[in-house]
Amino acid sequence: MSMSRTWWRGAAIYQVYLRSFADGNGDGCGDLAGLRSRLGYLKDLGIDAVWLNPWYPSPMADGGYDVADYRDIEPVFGTLAEAEAFIAEAHEHGIKVIIDVVPNHSSTASAWFQEALADPRARDRFWFRDEPNGWSSIFGGPAWTQVPDGQWYLHLFAPEQPDLNWDNPEVHQEFEDVLRFWFDRGVDGFRVDSAALLFKSEDAYEDLDGVHDVYRRWREIADEYGGVRAGDQDGGQGEEPGGGQGGERVLIGEVWLPDQERFARYLRPDELHTAFNFDFLACPWDPAELRRVIDLTLATHLPIGAPPTWVLSNHDVTRPVTRYGRADTGFQHGGRLHGSPSDLELGRRRARAAALLAMALPGGVYVYQGEELGLPEVEDLPDEARQDPMFARSGGANPGRDGCRVPLPWSGEEPPFGFGGPGPSAPPWLPQPEGWRKLTAQAQLADLDSMLNLYRSALRLRRELLGDGTLTWLPSEAGVLAFRRESGLVCVSNLGPAAVPLPPGELLLASGPVEGGALPPDTTAWLTGAGPGVSGR
Ligand code: GLC
Repeated sequence: MSMSRTWWRGAAIYQVYLRSFADGNGDGCGDLAGLRSRLGYLKDLGIDAVWLNPWYPSPMADGGYDVADYRDIEPVFGTLAEAEAFIAEAHEHGIKVIIDVVPNHSSTASAWFQEALADPRARDRFWFRDEPNGWSSIFGGPAWTQVPDGQWYLHLFAPEQPDLNWDNPEVHQEFEDVLRFWFDRGVDGFRVDSAALLFKSEDAYEDLDGVHDVYRRWREIADEYGGVRAGDQDGGQGEEPGGGQGGERVLIGEVWLPDQERFARYLRPDELHTAFNFDFLACPWDPAELRRVIDLTLATHLPIGAPPTWVLSNHDVTRPVTRYGRADTGFQHGGRLHGSPSDLELGRRRARAAALLAMALPGGVYVYQGEELGLPEVEDLPDEARQDPMFARSGGANPGRDGCRVPLPWSGEEPPFGFGGPGPSAPPWLPQPEGWRKLTAQAQLADLDSMLNLYRSALRLRRELLGDGTLTWLPSEAGVLAFRRESGLVCVSNLGPAAVPLPPGELLLASGPVEGGALPPDTTAWLTGAGPGVSGR
Protein backbone atom coordinates (compact mmCIF):
# COMPACT_ATOMS: atom_id res chain seq x y z
CA MET A 1 0.00 0.00 0.00
CA SER A 2 0.99 3.59 -0.39
CA MET A 3 3.22 4.98 2.32
CA SER A 4 2.78 8.54 1.21
CA ARG A 5 2.98 11.13 3.94
CA THR A 6 -0.44 12.44 3.06
CA TRP A 7 -2.04 8.98 2.87
CA TRP A 8 -5.07 10.28 4.75
CA ARG A 9 -6.13 12.71 2.01
CA GLY A 10 -7.60 9.98 -0.16
CA ALA A 11 -7.89 7.11 2.30
CA ALA A 12 -10.70 4.57 2.52
CA ILE A 13 -11.29 4.22 6.26
CA TYR A 14 -13.27 1.31 7.68
CA GLN A 15 -15.13 1.98 10.92
CA VAL A 16 -14.91 -0.85 13.44
CA TYR A 17 -17.56 -0.86 16.15
CA LEU A 18 -15.53 -3.24 18.28
CA ARG A 19 -18.42 -4.60 20.35
CA SER A 20 -20.09 -5.87 17.21
CA PHE A 21 -17.26 -6.72 14.84
CA ALA A 22 -15.98 -10.16 15.90
CA ASP A 23 -15.93 -11.96 19.24
CA GLY A 24 -12.70 -13.83 19.90
CA ASN A 25 -13.56 -15.39 23.28
CA GLY A 26 -17.18 -16.39 22.73
CA ASP A 27 -18.68 -14.17 25.45
CA GLY A 28 -21.13 -12.56 23.02
CA CYS A 29 -19.26 -9.27 22.79
CA GLY A 30 -16.76 -8.28 20.10
CA ASP A 31 -13.14 -7.81 21.17
CA LEU A 32 -9.56 -7.28 20.08
CA ALA A 33 -8.91 -10.99 19.67
CA GLY A 34 -11.83 -11.16 17.22
CA LEU A 35 -10.63 -8.11 15.35
CA ARG A 36 -7.10 -9.49 15.08
CA SER A 37 -8.47 -12.74 13.68
CA ARG A 38 -10.23 -10.81 10.91
CA LEU A 39 -7.39 -8.56 9.77
CA GLY A 40 -7.06 -10.68 6.63
CA TYR A 41 -10.69 -9.86 5.76
CA LEU A 42 -9.98 -6.15 6.10
CA LYS A 43 -6.83 -6.36 4.03
CA ASP A 44 -8.70 -8.22 1.29
CA LEU A 45 -11.49 -5.65 1.42
CA GLY A 46 -8.89 -3.09 0.35
CA ILE A 47 -9.17 -0.37 2.96
CA ASP A 48 -6.29 1.88 4.03
CA ALA A 49 -7.13 2.39 7.69
CA VAL A 50 -9.50 1.37 10.43
CA TRP A 51 -11.16 3.73 12.89
CA LEU A 52 -12.17 2.04 16.13
CA ASN A 53 -14.92 3.41 18.35
CA PRO A 54 -13.76 3.89 21.97
CA TRP A 55 -11.94 0.87 23.35
CA TYR A 56 -11.23 2.27 26.80
CA PRO A 57 -12.42 0.94 30.17
CA SER A 58 -16.04 2.03 30.42
CA PRO A 59 -19.25 1.18 32.23
CA MET A 60 -20.78 1.24 28.69
CA ALA A 61 -23.55 3.67 29.56
CA ASP A 62 -23.11 5.01 26.00
CA GLY A 63 -21.35 2.19 24.17
CA GLY A 64 -17.93 3.24 25.48
CA TYR A 65 -18.33 6.99 24.91
CA ASP A 66 -18.33 7.16 28.71
CA VAL A 67 -14.58 6.76 29.18
CA ALA A 68 -13.36 5.82 32.66
CA ASP A 69 -9.64 5.69 31.81
CA TYR A 70 -8.15 7.12 28.61
CA ARG A 71 -4.92 5.13 28.96
CA ASP A 72 -6.13 1.56 29.09
CA ILE A 73 -8.37 -0.98 27.33
CA GLU A 74 -11.83 -2.13 28.42
CA PRO A 75 -11.30 -5.64 29.87
CA VAL A 76 -14.24 -7.02 27.83
CA PHE A 77 -12.28 -5.97 24.72
CA GLY A 78 -8.87 -7.18 25.89
CA THR A 79 -5.69 -5.72 27.34
CA LEU A 80 -3.30 -2.90 26.57
CA ALA A 81 -0.76 -5.50 25.40
CA GLU A 82 -3.32 -6.88 22.94
CA ALA A 83 -4.05 -3.38 21.68
CA GLU A 84 -0.34 -2.87 21.04
CA ALA A 85 -0.14 -6.23 19.27
CA PHE A 86 -3.19 -5.29 17.19
CA ILE A 87 -1.61 -1.98 16.11
CA ALA A 88 1.57 -3.78 15.05
CA GLU A 89 -0.34 -6.49 13.16
CA ALA A 90 -2.58 -3.96 11.42
CA HIS A 91 0.55 -2.16 10.25
CA GLU A 92 1.99 -5.44 8.99
CA HIS A 93 -1.19 -5.80 6.93
CA GLY A 94 -0.71 -2.29 5.54
CA ILE A 95 -3.63 -0.94 7.57
CA LYS A 96 -3.37 2.25 9.62
CA VAL A 97 -5.10 2.57 12.98
CA ILE A 98 -7.24 5.49 14.09
CA ILE A 99 -8.81 5.51 17.54
CA ASP A 100 -11.54 7.61 19.09
CA VAL A 101 -10.74 10.28 21.65
CA VAL A 102 -13.59 11.71 23.70
CA PRO A 103 -12.62 15.14 25.04
CA ASN A 104 -16.01 16.71 25.75
CA HIS A 105 -16.97 14.39 28.56
CA SER A 106 -15.65 11.62 30.74
CA SER A 107 -17.39 8.98 32.84
CA THR A 108 -18.81 9.15 36.33
CA ALA A 109 -16.56 6.11 36.92
CA SER A 110 -13.38 8.08 36.09
CA ALA A 111 -10.88 8.82 38.86
CA TRP A 112 -11.38 12.56 38.34
CA PHE A 113 -15.13 12.39 38.76
CA GLN A 114 -14.87 10.14 41.79
CA GLU A 115 -12.50 12.67 43.37
CA ALA A 116 -14.92 15.45 42.54
CA LEU A 117 -17.79 13.59 44.15
CA ALA A 118 -15.80 12.97 47.33
CA ASP A 119 -14.41 16.49 47.66
CA PRO A 120 -16.25 19.66 46.57
CA ARG A 121 -12.85 21.41 46.26
CA ALA A 122 -11.90 18.98 43.46
CA ARG A 123 -14.77 19.88 41.14
CA ASP A 124 -13.20 22.37 38.77
CA ARG A 125 -12.40 19.76 36.11
CA PHE A 126 -16.16 19.40 35.55
CA TRP A 127 -19.15 21.75 35.50
CA PHE A 128 -20.57 21.78 39.00
CA ARG A 129 -23.10 24.49 39.89
CA ASP A 130 -25.45 25.22 42.78
CA GLU A 131 -28.29 25.74 40.32
CA PRO A 132 -28.80 24.09 36.92
CA ASN A 133 -29.60 26.22 33.88
CA GLY A 134 -32.36 25.11 31.53
CA TRP A 135 -30.23 23.04 29.12
CA SER A 136 -31.54 19.71 27.90
CA SER A 137 -29.38 16.68 27.24
CA ILE A 138 -28.79 15.73 23.59
CA PHE A 139 -30.06 12.28 24.60
CA GLY A 140 -33.28 13.71 26.08
CA GLY A 141 -34.15 14.84 29.61
CA PRO A 142 -32.33 17.51 31.62
CA ALA A 143 -28.58 18.13 31.10
CA TRP A 144 -27.97 18.41 34.85
CA THR A 145 -27.91 15.80 37.59
CA GLN A 146 -27.79 16.52 41.33
CA VAL A 147 -25.19 14.92 43.60
CA PRO A 148 -25.95 14.00 47.25
CA ASP A 149 -24.55 17.25 48.72
CA GLY A 150 -26.97 19.28 46.58
CA GLN A 151 -24.75 20.55 43.74
CA TRP A 152 -25.52 19.76 40.08
CA TYR A 153 -23.17 18.70 37.29
CA LEU A 154 -23.55 19.22 33.57
CA HIS A 155 -23.82 16.33 31.10
CA LEU A 156 -24.74 17.20 27.52
CA PHE A 157 -25.23 13.47 26.93
CA ALA A 158 -26.14 10.78 29.51
CA PRO A 159 -25.82 11.44 33.29
CA GLU A 160 -22.94 8.93 33.28
CA GLN A 161 -21.02 11.30 30.94
CA PRO A 162 -20.08 14.42 32.95
CA ASP A 163 -18.79 17.28 30.77
CA LEU A 164 -15.18 18.28 31.29
CA ASN A 165 -14.31 21.91 31.99
CA TRP A 166 -11.99 23.11 29.23
CA ASP A 167 -11.42 26.40 31.08
CA ASN A 168 -9.21 24.36 33.40
CA PRO A 169 -5.59 23.97 32.14
CA GLU A 170 -5.35 20.53 33.74
CA VAL A 171 -7.89 19.25 31.22
CA HIS A 172 -5.72 20.52 28.34
CA GLN A 173 -2.65 18.89 29.83
CA GLU A 174 -4.48 15.61 30.34
CA PHE A 175 -5.59 15.28 26.72
CA GLU A 176 -2.22 16.30 25.32
CA ASP A 177 -0.73 13.50 27.41
CA VAL A 178 -3.40 11.06 26.23
CA LEU A 179 -2.63 11.84 22.58
CA ARG A 180 1.05 11.23 23.25
CA PHE A 181 0.29 8.03 25.14
CA TRP A 182 -1.36 6.50 22.05
CA PHE A 183 0.92 8.09 19.44
CA ASP A 184 3.78 6.51 21.39
CA ARG A 185 2.02 3.17 20.88
CA GLY A 186 1.89 3.67 17.15
CA VAL A 187 -1.66 4.83 16.42
CA ASP A 188 -1.91 6.80 13.20
CA GLY A 189 -4.60 9.21 14.25
CA PHE A 190 -7.62 10.15 16.31
CA ARG A 191 -11.27 10.61 15.54
CA VAL A 192 -12.26 13.48 17.82
CA ASP A 193 -15.68 12.87 19.34
CA SER A 194 -18.11 15.80 19.58
CA ALA A 195 -15.26 18.03 18.45
CA ALA A 196 -17.24 21.28 18.38
CA LEU A 197 -18.54 21.05 21.95
CA LEU A 198 -15.77 21.24 24.64
CA PHE A 199 -16.14 24.92 25.66
CA LYS A 200 -19.22 26.36 27.31
CA SER A 201 -20.44 29.86 28.07
CA GLU A 202 -23.47 30.88 30.08
CA ASP A 203 -25.73 30.47 27.08
CA ALA A 204 -23.94 28.28 24.53
CA TYR A 205 -22.15 24.97 24.35
CA GLU A 206 -21.27 24.59 20.70
CA ASP A 207 -18.54 26.01 18.49
CA LEU A 208 -17.07 28.52 20.94
CA ASP A 209 -13.87 30.05 19.61
CA GLY A 210 -11.56 28.64 22.32
CA VAL A 211 -11.82 25.20 20.77
CA HIS A 212 -9.55 26.19 17.88
CA ASP A 213 -6.56 26.78 20.15
CA VAL A 214 -6.99 23.24 21.45
CA TYR A 215 -6.83 21.78 17.96
CA ARG A 216 -3.85 23.97 17.00
CA ARG A 217 -1.98 22.51 19.95
CA TRP A 218 -3.09 18.96 19.06
CA ARG A 219 -1.96 19.52 15.47
CA GLU A 220 1.49 20.47 16.70
CA ILE A 221 1.65 17.20 18.62
CA ALA A 222 0.41 15.16 15.65
CA ASP A 223 2.94 16.86 13.36
CA GLU A 224 5.72 16.21 15.82
CA TYR A 225 4.93 12.47 15.60
CA GLY A 226 4.28 12.47 11.88
CA GLY A 227 7.68 13.98 11.23
CA VAL A 228 6.25 17.17 9.77
CA ARG A 229 8.53 20.11 10.44
CA ALA A 230 7.28 23.67 10.51
CA GLY A 231 7.33 25.14 6.99
CA ASP A 232 7.72 21.64 5.52
CA GLN A 233 4.14 20.53 5.15
CA ASP A 234 4.60 18.40 2.10
CA GLY A 235 7.62 16.29 2.25
CA GLY A 236 9.74 16.39 5.40
CA GLN A 237 11.33 13.09 6.24
CA GLY A 238 11.87 13.85 9.91
CA GLU A 239 12.26 11.14 12.49
CA GLU A 240 9.02 9.81 13.90
CA PRO A 241 8.86 8.98 17.57
CA GLY A 242 6.56 6.22 18.67
CA GLY A 243 7.11 3.58 16.02
CA GLY A 244 4.62 5.00 13.53
CA GLN A 245 4.21 3.17 10.26
CA GLY A 246 5.14 6.20 8.22
CA GLY A 247 3.11 9.17 7.06
CA GLU A 248 1.36 11.86 8.94
CA ARG A 249 -0.66 11.28 12.10
CA VAL A 250 -4.15 12.61 11.61
CA LEU A 251 -6.94 14.30 13.53
CA ILE A 252 -10.47 13.74 12.21
CA GLY A 253 -13.26 15.81 13.65
CA GLU A 254 -16.82 14.86 14.40
CA VAL A 255 -18.10 18.36 13.66
CA TRP A 256 -21.85 18.64 13.13
CA LEU A 257 -22.29 22.30 12.16
CA PRO A 258 -24.79 23.56 9.60
CA ASP A 259 -22.76 26.70 8.87
CA GLN A 260 -20.08 25.82 6.27
CA GLU A 261 -17.91 28.78 7.14
CA ARG A 262 -17.85 27.78 10.82
CA PHE A 263 -17.24 24.13 9.85
CA ALA A 264 -14.29 25.06 7.62
CA ARG A 265 -12.54 26.80 10.51
CA TYR A 266 -11.84 23.40 12.06
CA LEU A 267 -9.96 22.35 8.92
CA ARG A 268 -7.57 25.28 8.62
CA PRO A 269 -4.06 24.06 7.80
CA ASP A 270 -2.92 24.19 11.43
CA GLU A 271 -6.01 22.50 12.95
CA LEU A 272 -7.77 19.17 12.26
CA HIS A 273 -6.84 17.32 9.07
CA THR A 274 -10.35 16.29 8.01
CA ALA A 275 -13.91 16.03 9.33
CA PHE A 276 -16.88 13.82 8.58
CA ASN A 277 -19.23 15.05 5.88
CA PHE A 278 -22.58 14.84 7.61
CA ASP A 279 -24.34 16.83 4.88
CA PHE A 280 -23.61 13.98 2.49
CA LEU A 281 -24.58 11.35 5.04
CA ALA A 282 -27.89 13.12 5.67
CA CYS A 283 -28.67 13.82 2.01
CA PRO A 284 -31.78 12.18 0.55
CA TRP A 285 -31.49 9.98 -2.55
CA ASP A 286 -32.24 12.85 -4.87
CA PRO A 287 -30.07 13.99 -7.79
CA ALA A 288 -30.48 17.73 -7.30
CA GLU A 289 -29.88 17.52 -3.56
CA LEU A 290 -26.84 15.29 -3.99
CA ARG A 291 -25.40 17.60 -6.61
CA ARG A 292 -25.97 20.56 -4.31
CA VAL A 293 -24.29 18.85 -1.35
CA ILE A 294 -21.32 17.68 -3.42
CA ASP A 295 -20.77 21.17 -4.84
CA LEU A 296 -21.16 22.77 -1.43
CA THR A 297 -18.69 20.29 0.06
CA LEU A 298 -16.11 20.95 -2.64
CA ALA A 299 -16.56 24.71 -2.34
CA THR A 300 -16.10 24.52 1.43
CA HIS A 301 -12.94 22.42 1.33
CA LEU A 302 -11.12 23.74 -1.71
CA PRO A 303 -10.10 27.16 -0.39
CA ILE A 304 -8.58 25.68 2.78
CA GLY A 305 -6.82 22.81 1.02
CA ALA A 306 -8.48 20.14 3.16
CA PRO A 307 -9.75 17.00 1.45
CA PRO A 308 -13.50 16.35 1.69
CA THR A 309 -14.79 13.10 3.12
CA TRP A 310 -17.77 11.04 1.98
CA VAL A 311 -19.76 9.14 4.56
CA LEU A 312 -22.91 7.06 4.02
CA SER A 313 -23.31 5.61 7.49
CA ASN A 314 -21.90 5.20 10.96
CA HIS A 315 -22.84 3.77 14.35
CA ASP A 316 -25.29 6.61 15.07
CA VAL A 317 -27.59 6.52 12.03
CA THR A 318 -30.05 4.27 10.19
CA ARG A 319 -28.32 1.90 7.79
CA PRO A 320 -28.48 3.05 4.13
CA VAL A 321 -30.21 -0.08 2.75
CA THR A 322 -33.19 0.65 5.00
CA ARG A 323 -33.09 4.41 4.60
CA TYR A 324 -32.89 4.40 0.80
CA GLY A 325 -35.75 1.92 0.58
CA ARG A 326 -38.21 4.33 2.21
CA ALA A 327 -40.49 6.83 0.53
CA ASP A 328 -38.66 9.52 2.51
CA THR A 329 -34.92 8.92 2.11
CA GLY A 330 -33.94 11.94 4.23
CA PHE A 331 -31.95 11.97 7.41
CA GLN A 332 -33.29 9.71 10.11
CA HIS A 333 -31.50 10.62 13.32
CA GLY A 334 -33.76 10.30 16.31
CA GLY A 335 -35.77 7.48 14.80
CA ARG A 336 -38.08 9.89 12.97
CA LEU A 337 -38.98 7.25 10.42
CA HIS A 338 -38.31 4.16 12.50
CA GLY A 339 -40.48 1.28 11.36
CA SER A 340 -41.95 3.11 8.38
CA PRO A 341 -42.09 0.74 5.39
CA SER A 342 -38.88 0.13 3.48
CA ASP A 343 -38.45 -1.70 0.18
CA LEU A 344 -35.13 -3.36 0.98
CA GLU A 345 -34.54 -4.47 -2.62
CA LEU A 346 -34.81 -0.89 -3.78
CA GLY A 347 -32.76 0.26 -0.80
CA ARG A 348 -30.02 -2.24 -1.58
CA ARG A 349 -29.88 -1.17 -5.23
CA ARG A 350 -29.57 2.46 -4.22
CA ALA A 351 -27.03 1.71 -1.48
CA ARG A 352 -24.85 -0.02 -4.09
CA ALA A 353 -25.15 2.96 -6.40
CA ALA A 354 -24.45 5.37 -3.55
CA ALA A 355 -21.33 3.44 -2.56
CA LEU A 356 -19.81 3.74 -6.03
CA LEU A 357 -20.71 7.43 -6.11
CA ALA A 358 -19.14 8.09 -2.69
CA MET A 359 -15.99 6.15 -3.55
CA ALA A 360 -15.49 8.05 -6.81
CA LEU A 361 -15.67 11.51 -5.27
CA PRO A 362 -12.41 13.33 -4.49
CA GLY A 363 -11.10 12.94 -0.94
CA GLY A 364 -11.49 10.28 1.72
CA VAL A 365 -14.29 7.76 2.14
CA TYR A 366 -15.66 5.95 5.20
CA VAL A 367 -17.18 2.48 5.29
CA TYR A 368 -19.05 1.55 8.46
CA GLN A 369 -18.76 -2.16 9.28
CA GLY A 370 -21.62 -4.11 7.75
CA GLU A 371 -22.17 -1.49 5.04
CA GLU A 372 -20.03 -3.69 2.77
CA LEU A 373 -22.42 -6.57 3.55
CA GLY A 374 -25.48 -4.46 2.81
CA LEU A 375 -26.92 -5.08 6.26
CA PRO A 376 -30.30 -3.45 6.84
CA GLU A 377 -31.22 -1.61 10.03
CA VAL A 378 -32.59 -4.10 12.59
CA GLU A 379 -35.82 -2.37 13.50
CA ASP A 380 -37.54 -5.13 15.45
CA LEU A 381 -35.10 -5.57 18.34
CA PRO A 382 -36.98 -6.47 21.51
CA ASP A 383 -37.16 -3.51 23.89
CA GLU A 384 -35.35 -5.44 26.61
CA ALA A 385 -32.37 -5.94 24.31
CA ARG A 386 -31.97 -2.24 23.51
CA GLN A 387 -28.99 -0.64 25.24
CA ASP A 388 -28.68 2.82 23.70
CA PRO A 389 -29.41 5.47 26.37
CA MET A 390 -31.48 7.36 23.78
CA PHE A 391 -34.11 4.64 24.03
CA ALA A 392 -34.48 4.71 27.82
CA ARG A 393 -34.10 8.49 28.15
CA SER A 394 -36.87 9.13 25.64
CA GLY A 395 -39.16 6.73 27.46
CA GLY A 396 -39.02 4.47 24.40
CA ALA A 397 -40.20 7.19 21.99
CA ASN A 398 -36.82 7.11 20.25
CA PRO A 399 -35.70 3.56 19.38
CA GLY A 400 -32.08 4.63 19.69
CA ARG A 401 -29.12 3.46 17.65
CA ASP A 402 -28.90 -0.24 18.48
CA GLY A 403 -30.42 -1.24 15.13
CA CYS A 404 -27.24 -0.31 13.26
CA ARG A 405 -24.99 -1.91 15.89
CA VAL A 406 -26.07 -5.54 15.67
CA PRO A 407 -23.07 -7.95 15.58
CA LEU A 408 -21.81 -8.84 12.11
CA PRO A 409 -22.75 -12.14 10.43
CA TRP A 410 -19.57 -13.88 9.28
CA SER A 411 -20.54 -17.42 8.32
CA GLY A 412 -22.93 -20.30 8.80
CA GLU A 413 -26.66 -20.77 8.74
CA GLU A 414 -27.83 -19.54 12.11
CA PRO A 415 -27.01 -17.00 14.82
CA PRO A 416 -24.37 -16.11 15.94
CA PHE A 417 -23.25 -16.55 12.31
CA GLY A 418 -19.61 -17.03 13.19
CA PHE A 419 -19.52 -13.82 15.26
CA GLY A 420 -18.29 -15.83 18.26
CA GLY A 421 -15.54 -17.64 16.38
CA PRO A 422 -15.36 -21.35 15.61
CA GLY A 423 -16.21 -22.71 19.11
CA PRO A 424 -19.42 -22.58 21.14
CA SER A 425 -20.32 -19.08 22.19
CA ALA A 426 -22.81 -17.03 24.15
CA PRO A 427 -25.55 -15.26 22.17
CA PRO A 428 -24.37 -11.92 20.72
CA TRP A 429 -25.09 -8.88 22.92
CA LEU A 430 -27.78 -7.83 20.43
CA PRO A 431 -29.76 -10.55 18.62
CA GLN A 432 -29.12 -11.04 14.89
CA PRO A 433 -32.04 -11.62 12.51
CA GLU A 434 -32.36 -15.19 11.15
CA GLY A 435 -32.50 -13.76 7.63
CA TRP A 436 -28.87 -12.68 7.87
CA ARG A 437 -27.82 -16.18 6.78
CA LYS A 438 -27.91 -14.80 3.22
CA LEU A 439 -25.78 -11.82 4.18
CA THR A 440 -22.82 -13.49 5.87
CA ALA A 441 -19.37 -12.57 4.61
CA GLN A 442 -18.87 -16.22 3.71
CA ALA A 443 -22.04 -16.41 1.60
CA GLN A 444 -21.23 -13.12 -0.13
CA LEU A 445 -17.67 -14.07 -0.98
CA ALA A 446 -19.06 -16.96 -3.00
CA ASP A 447 -21.44 -14.70 -4.93
CA LEU A 448 -19.79 -12.54 -7.59
CA ASP A 449 -22.69 -10.08 -7.59
CA SER A 450 -22.79 -9.61 -3.83
CA MET A 451 -22.45 -6.27 -2.06
CA LEU A 452 -19.20 -7.49 -0.51
CA ASN A 453 -17.67 -8.25 -3.89
CA LEU A 454 -18.84 -4.88 -5.20
CA TYR A 455 -17.06 -3.15 -2.31
CA ARG A 456 -13.92 -5.22 -2.84
CA SER A 457 -13.77 -4.45 -6.55
CA ALA A 458 -14.55 -0.79 -6.02
CA LEU A 459 -12.00 -0.30 -3.27
CA ARG A 460 -9.33 -1.98 -5.39
CA LEU A 461 -10.03 0.28 -8.38
CA ARG A 462 -10.30 3.27 -6.12
CA ARG A 463 -6.75 2.78 -4.91
CA GLU A 464 -5.43 2.97 -8.43
CA LEU A 465 -7.69 5.58 -9.99
CA LEU A 466 -9.46 7.66 -7.35
CA GLY A 467 -8.98 9.28 -3.94
CA ASP A 468 -7.56 12.78 -3.41
CA GLY A 469 -7.99 15.40 -6.12
CA THR A 470 -10.75 17.23 -7.96
CA LEU A 471 -13.60 16.41 -10.31
CA THR A 472 -15.00 17.82 -13.53
CA TRP A 473 -18.76 17.65 -13.97
CA LEU A 474 -19.88 16.34 -17.34
CA PRO A 475 -23.04 17.43 -19.11
CA SER A 476 -25.84 14.98 -18.45
CA GLU A 477 -29.58 14.76 -18.58
CA ALA A 478 -31.87 15.49 -15.64
CA GLY A 479 -31.58 12.95 -12.86
CA VAL A 480 -28.03 11.91 -13.81
CA LEU A 481 -24.81 12.85 -12.01
CA ALA A 482 -21.70 12.42 -14.15
CA PHE A 483 -18.15 13.54 -13.54
CA ARG A 484 -14.62 12.74 -14.58
CA ARG A 485 -11.63 12.35 -12.29
CA GLU A 486 -8.00 13.20 -13.09
CA SER A 487 -7.20 9.57 -13.87
CA GLY A 488 -9.78 9.65 -16.65
CA LEU A 489 -12.29 7.56 -14.71
CA VAL A 490 -15.86 8.68 -15.33
CA CYS A 491 -18.54 8.05 -12.73
CA VAL A 492 -22.19 8.13 -13.85
CA SER A 493 -25.08 7.75 -11.38
CA ASN A 494 -28.61 7.50 -12.70
CA LEU A 495 -31.13 8.69 -10.13
CA GLY A 496 -33.81 9.32 -12.72
CA PRO A 497 -36.85 7.14 -13.44
CA ALA A 498 -35.65 5.67 -16.77
CA ALA A 499 -32.52 4.05 -18.19
CA VAL A 500 -30.03 6.42 -19.84
CA PRO A 501 -27.42 5.65 -22.49
CA LEU A 502 -23.92 5.23 -21.12
CA PRO A 503 -21.18 7.43 -22.51
CA PRO A 504 -18.58 5.73 -24.68
CA GLY A 505 -15.72 4.09 -22.85
CA GLU A 506 -14.76 0.83 -21.22
CA LEU A 507 -17.06 -0.21 -18.41
CA LEU A 508 -14.93 -0.89 -15.32
CA LEU A 509 -17.58 -1.57 -12.74
CA ALA A 510 -21.30 -1.03 -12.22
CA SER A 511 -23.50 -1.27 -9.16
CA GLY A 512 -26.14 -3.22 -11.10
CA PRO A 513 -26.67 -4.97 -14.42
CA VAL A 514 -25.88 -2.83 -17.44
CA GLU A 515 -27.20 -4.19 -20.70
CA GLY A 516 -27.18 -2.80 -24.20
CA GLY A 517 -25.18 0.27 -23.21
CA ALA A 518 -27.96 1.62 -21.00
CA LEU A 519 -27.62 2.54 -17.34
CA PRO A 520 -30.79 1.57 -15.41
CA PRO A 521 -32.33 3.77 -12.68
CA ASP A 522 -30.63 3.73 -9.25
CA THR A 523 -27.38 2.49 -10.73
CA THR A 524 -23.83 3.88 -10.85
CA ALA A 525 -21.21 2.92 -13.42
CA TRP A 526 -17.48 3.58 -13.58
CA LEU A 527 -15.97 3.88 -17.04
CA THR A 528 -12.64 4.78 -18.42
CA GLY A 529 -11.67 6.48 -21.65
CA ALA A 530 -15.15 8.01 -21.97
CA GLY A 531 -15.84 10.97 -24.24
CA PRO A 532 -16.75 14.46 -23.04
CA GLY A 533 -20.50 14.17 -22.61
CA VAL A 534 -22.97 11.71 -21.19
CA SER A 535 -26.18 10.37 -22.71
CA GLY A 536 -24.98 10.32 -26.26
CA ARG A 537 -24.56 14.06 -26.67
C1 GLC B 1 -20.77 11.06 19.23
C2 GLC B 1 -20.77 9.57 19.03
C3 GLC B 1 -21.98 8.99 19.65
C4 GLC B 1 -21.96 9.30 21.14
C5 GLC B 1 -21.81 10.80 21.38
C6 GLC B 1 -21.47 11.11 22.81
O1 GLC B 1 -21.83 11.67 18.58
O2 GLC B 1 -20.67 9.28 17.66
O3 GLC B 1 -22.08 7.61 19.46
O4 GLC B 1 -23.13 8.84 21.74
O5 GLC B 1 -20.78 11.36 20.60
O6 GLC B 1 -20.15 10.75 23.08
